Amino acid sequence: MAILVTGGAGYIGSVTVEHLCSRGENVVVLDNLSRGHREALAPAIPFYQGNVGDPALLERITHEHPIDSSIHFAAFAYVGESVEHPQLYFENNVSQGLALLAALLRAGVRRIVFSSSCVTYGEPESLPIKEDSRQWPTSPYGWSKLLLERALASYETAHGLKFVSLRYFNAAGATKTRGEHHDPETHLIPSILQAAAGLRREIRVFGNTYPTLDGTAIRDYIHVSDLAKAHGAALDHLRQGGASQFLNLGTGHGYSVMEVIDCARRVTGKAIPAVIEPPRPGDPSRLIANADKAEKVLGWKPRHSDLETIVHDAWEWQTRNRYGYRVK
Ligand SMILES: NC(=O)c1ccc[n+]([C@@H]2O[C@H](COP(=O)([O-])OP(=O)(O)OC[C@H]3O[C@@H](n4cnc5c(N)ncnc54)[C@H](O)[C@@H]3O)[C@@H](O)[C@H]2O)c1
Repeated sequence: MAILVTGGAGYIGSVTVEHLCSRGENVVVLDNLSRGHREALAPAIPFYQGNVGDPALLERITHEHPIDSSIHFAAFAYVGESVEHPQLYFENNVSQGLALLAALLRAGVRRIVFSSSCVTYGEPESLPIKEDSRQWPTSPYGWSKLLLERALASYETAHGLKFVSLRYFNAAGATKTRGEHHDPETHLIPSILQAAAGLRREIRVFGNTYPTLDGTAIRDYIHVSDLAKAHGAALDHLRQGGASQFLNLGTGHGYSVMEVIDCARRVTGKAIPAVIEPPRPGDPSRLIANADKAEKVLGWKPRHSDLETIVHDAWEWQTRNRYGYRVK
């Protein structure tokens, strides 16, 4: 049987494909390459370039491969862009996501692992954030993820679909051969490392008056290899007849922006100039996961997600691939 991975040419998707292949799984990738890279996938992996919302293409793929489960990564994922262009996010992430679910149901695929996010919680009421915490997103991007979560839960009741919705906190780090290449890059760790590599003048720190020890915002960083393994474990859970789940993927430990910059200065040996900018509206001061449920349900625990390892691995990737996948 085969796993359909949507968005498999993106950052987390390509690392997960690498992990699944190392387990001997049959993987088929669907990605429109709007934000991903063909080079992030081994040439031998069956690849279809197109939209997840294209029913004819989905029919063809499910005809040509014995798909019995799907991991759905494909989405746009910039908070700021979603505030400026909400239609883009509701169309790409929600309308196309629903069309994908419909096509999978038609083809008899009843097991889905979904890339959700801590942004579905919005401003947390208490920390660390548990799965049953209130979800009230502060951006159209967050709503697009929450709407798909609701659709999955409704389709379970109506159609017997089984799912694991994984709410990632901040993905970071790299493997030896695959890493983060977003354009523009807005994530903190690759942006800091681009500054260390001389590809940007400085790192902009948004807000230094938050109620945290050094005044900068705190986030829970999770190594992309740990995320990839959680997807494998989620598939195993569903294959063994496990119940549908919403699970946080984080470490339960947060680092402030200044702590991350200091760690990057140590790891790279570079000065990395930082400038303070006003805080961004809607940016919570702290986002930290309670990840106990993922450990209990999946037997999964982050193994590579201490900050030194994350920054070290991301720096190795940045050093070996100065311009990401595009130019060597
Ligand atoms: N990076 C993070 O820290 C983070 C945190 C929480 C959740 N997520 C979620 O994880 C998933 C992957 O994130 P990423 O950082 O790897 O993003 P990414 O942009 O690197 O990968 C997304 C991939 O999906 C593809 N895609 C987008 N819309 C598509 C469509 N309609 N049809 C086909 N392909 C399409 C893009 O071309 C890209 O290759 C996303 O759903 C994102 O919302 C990411």
